[in-house]
Amino acid sequence: MVRSIAVCVMLVCMVSLSAPAAEVFDPPAVYLTWQRDPTTTMTVHWHTIHDLPAPDAAQTQAASEPEDQPSPTDIPPDWEVPASVVLHRPLAEAAGEWKTTAGKSHRLPYSNRMVHTVELTGLTPATDYRFRFNENSAEFRFRTMPEDVAQPIRFAVGGDTMHRPEDFEAVNRQAARMSPEFVVFGGDLAYADAKPDQLGRWYTWFEVYKRSMVTPDGRLIPMLVTIGNHEVRGGTGGTPEKAPFFFNLFAMPGLPGYASLDFGDYMSILLLDTDHVNPIDGPQTGWLARTLLQCQRRGVPHLFPVYHVPAYPGHREFAGHVNARVRDYWVPLFEEFGIRVAFEHHDHTYKRTHPLRGGRIDARGIVYLGDGAWGVGVRKPAPDRWYLQNSAHARHLILVTIHGRHQHYLVIDETGAAIDEFPSTPSSPRLHEPTAPALAE
Ligand SMILES: [Fe+2]
Repeated sequence: MVRSIAVCVMLVCMVSLSAPAAEVFDPPAVYLTWQRDPTTTMTVHWHTIHDLPAPDAAQTQAASEPEDQPSPTDIPPDWEVPASVVLHRPLAEAAGEWKTTAGKSHRLPYSNRMVHTVELTGLTPATDYRFRFNENSAEFRFRTMPEDVAQPIRFAVGGDTMHRPEDFEAVNRQAARMSPEFVVFGGDLAYADAKPDQLGRWYTWFEVYKRSMVTPDGRLIPMLVTIGNHEVRGGTGGTPEKAPFFFNLFAMPGLPGYASLDFGDYMSILLLDTDHVNPIDGPQTGWLARTLLQCQRRGVPHLFPVYHVPAYPGHREFAGHVNARVRDYWVPLFEEFGIRVAFEHHDHTYKRTHPLRGGRIDARGIVYLGDGAWGVGVRKPAPDRWYLQNSAHARHLILVTIHGRHQHYLVIDETGAAIDEFPSTPSSPRLHEPTAPALAE
């Protein structure tokens, strides 16, 4: 009897030892952004892979052509759409209840992936949270933004992020090491050019992001993105339908392709579109004027425009068509509403302009920082530009620190070396009232 009990116990142990552990749910892409006030909200995106019918090859091939084609985002009518749920709780409450928030999902065009989106709201400012997707999922962390800028706030900026994944990852790791609150990418992210046969570049981009944009204390770093020419079929002059991955991967900026994000009353970031799917002039410029006026009335001390094609290029020709349009339509508004620094990209070099105003060097002017060399092959800065104060042939990130009304900029290359640093003084008072035509739609 004793022997048979012992055999049974052994068998049970063997069975339990050999039973496969439940597989941990760990999505191939998990990333954070914001759609509303970052002091109290967080938008969580993640991807799941499914046995969805492969996109029609002929349609995929056709979609690689310049002409518009319908995006195969359909899912079979009898297919059970997976749940989009995030569980979160404050990190400090080790035994606290997980709060459950439901969201939605949609199919990423031409892929077997679903993109999930859940917006968490009612969060406490400057607080670390844990989050997961179910009881058996990997766990991640994020932090909400502070209510004010009484303490220094640091974030990273750059663009043109991934020719080679190893370069993207190297600069990501330098950025993450500095524990920024978030990162802003100014266009040309995965270089998939909106082509279905290049979707793997997006998958790689998110894999690299997930493993490398984590701070030393374990926070996943939220991102804000703008659109660049490599997000759009044809590069410029397109419509949102020509950027199907960009608009299906990120809730922000969303349609029409430009947006502003207000951080309490202390900072607003303007995510702009330099002629990729929205013309620079027309409705976008009218919106920009109205948004800058609202920020001014609210007394927002830190206003940052971020866009892809530079007004003051560090490598390409100054007379470039899109460059000139940024100078013609947006720069006068930036000057009118006291912008101190604008972030530009696309030229694959490091540049810092002199402070510029009215097309001249002026101590009261705007510094244009760029030019999009986060993770791409770099180009030599143009040697003969009157407006460049500093430049470098280096992959880099820009680390911005705001504190009270002060701003500080530190530029770090892929090895972690500082290649530029400068302060910025508060802007001069506005010289005249906003002009009525600029406020028109
Ligand atoms: Fe570009």
